[in-house]
Amino acid sequence: MDQSEKAVDERLAEICELLLNSISYYDWVGFYFKNGDKEELKLGPYAGEPTDHTIIPFGKGICGQVAVSNQNFVVPDVAAQDNYIACSITVKAEIVVPLFLNGENIGQIDIDSNTPDPFSEEDERFLEFVNEKVSQIL
Ligand code: SME
Repeated sequence: MDQSEKAVDERLAEICELLLNSISYYDWVGFYFKNGDKEELKLGPYAGEPTDHTIIPFGKGICGQVAVSNQNFVVPDVAAQDNYIACSITVKAEIVVPLFLNGENIGQIDIDSNTPDPFSEEDERFLEFVNEKVSQIL
């Protein structure tokens, strides 16, 4: 990793911390990015408890589905999802919003909540805005 990549990762980590600390129902915040040419996501900067799921194949879990669909995925109740990868038993809900660079889905922001059904369209619009800003520093 060169110096400029490190600087980007530090900034992304700060964004994760800021979101985690500012929004009460955001309990884990992280970025996943496409892993080179592979059909998988790799965990980038995050805030919250460490997760075992540092690599997620395309199509698997909520994150892997968003890598394929290019659409926001709002999950009000994770227990109702068949294709879901549990990171922590305390998580009740999740939102994943894809991150586009020059129109290409290159990753996503992933947020877990310990509160049931906490996410609204306002979160979707806000996280789309965050991702747009992030794409400008990549
Ligand atoms: N729950 C995600 C896996 C990532 S963890 O939430 C950090 C999924 O189903 O893809």
